Amino acid sequence: MSSLEEPLGFDKLPSMSTVDMIQRFSSGACRPSADEMGMGSCWIEGRSCSSSNSCEEDYEEYTRETFPWKRHTRDLSHGNSYGQRTMSLGRNHAVCGTVWDSRCFPDRQYNSKSNDNDTRDLTNKFWKGIPKFVKIVEVGPRDGLQNEKNIVPTDVKIELIHRLVSSGLPVVEATSFVSPKWVPQLADARDVMKAVQSLEGSRLPVLTPNLKGFEAAVAAGAKEVAVFASASESFSKSNINCSIEESLARYRAVTRAAKELGIPVRGYVSCVVGCPVEGAISPSKVAYVAKELYDMDCFEISLGDTIGVGTCGTVIPMLEAVMAVVPVKKLAVHFHDTYGQSLPNILVSLQMGISTVDSSIAGLGGCPYAKGASGNVATEDVVYMLNGLGVKTNVDLPKLLSAGDFISKHLGRPSGSKTAIALSRVTSDASKI
Ligand code: HMG
Ligand code: MG
Repeated sequence: MSSLEEPLGFDKLPSMSTVDMIQRFSSGACRPSADEMGMGSCWIEGRSCSSSNSCEEDYEEYTRETFPWKRHTRDLSHGNSYGQRTMSLGRNHAVCGTVWDSRCFPDRQYNSKSNDNDTRDLTNKFWKGIPKFVKIVEVGPRDGLQNEKNIVPTDVKIELIHRLVSSGLPVVEATSFVSPKWVPQLADARDVMKAVQSLEGSRLPVLTPNLKGFEAAVAAGAKEVAVFASASESFSKSNINCSIEESLARYRAVTRAAKELGIPVRGYVSCVVGCPVEGAISPSKVAYVAKELYDMDCFEISLGDTIGVGTCGTVIPMLEAVMAVVPVKKLAVHFHDTYGQSLPNILVSLQMGISTVDSSIAGLGGCPYAKGASGNVATEDVVYMLNGLGVKTNVDLPKLLSAGDFISKHLGRPSGSKTAIALSRVTSDASKI
């Protein structure tokens, strides 16, 4: 058993001094207050300071001490690079009250009667970065099932993929062409891919750690692949048995081969906030690996909080570093939900201009080489939140829930995420009336 198969060393994440700094930057010291809002002086829009030190000063001090690379990045406190589209409330007029369509916007009339310009400014600032459409990349059949103790039968995987595709998800990551000795759960990758390759409606990428995996994937009918690097040297070694630089050399070979066949390649960066061995990871390391993947023509870079330790206080500086070197429209976020921080982390990512979010049906997931990390954020939870924000996803929530129900029943678990359980309670109550 490798050291990574031991429960995570969360005590290493992050060090106390980092926690102190993050707390100072992100909590009570910068408390929002209605009449101070909208002054435009805070880095996170809408947040203001109750102390004599401004948030900006606190943040500058925090980044100077923690992330020296900050000097080379854009100054977000004055910048307007995160999608300056002005949004008015209630832009998509949705009817509240149905179970499935949870888009209940703040009462427009109430807001328009308000004379409080500061409050309105604040509200507009909140909405400003939120995109109109978010692309959800469903990773359940891969990231979810790779971590199940019991190997899920091939026909169940295929049925799950069918259900996810029919729910309208634009991308469903189907499986991995990795070594079956390392990840026996996905040893049937070829059979799964062959069975779903001609499904229409969704793209079906697969993970490929090297040329061998790439060739096997293409032979099985894959039309899109993903490579996966890490911002942590230790995690790279335990996950794919090579250093970061070695992995990047392998991925250059994969992207070159893929280019010749016209196959798009997505790139992952793991451990973007923390590593089970090394503890906190510097945003500059994440930015370096993301830029390398971008430079080798990955069409999208997904930033993975593999062990789910990120909070808004650590995710924002990480995104800032990456966005300084990779265009935001090329980025996706991938949160595991160990500490229940995924939804706020997604929300701030959207506000910073990200519009692609990875998630996993029923919150399945984890990484075999990061034991102790919980599943990915549940797709149901993400769709429910986005519906509430009036953000389109094209996902049919009832069909999604039925896919979650299907796999949860198979795994002998209660039906999916909190959202799934709550919605199923509401509908079963309604059916009794
Ligand atoms: P290795 O043992 O260093 O490779 O593994 P090797 O080149 O020395 O080969 C050893 C054996 O593996 C040989 O077979 C090769 O043929 C075979 P043998 O001669 O012993 O019979 N082999 C392969 N077989 C099938 N498919 C392949 C392949 N390559 C070699 N592609 C390797 C290196 C990368 C293959 C291995 O470490 C591996 O498969 N690792 C996969 C780990 C993994 O899948 N982790 C989970 C996914 S990453 C993740 O979850 C994070 C993410 O979600 C984002 C986030 O959350 O942050 C993406
Ligand atoms: Mg993952």
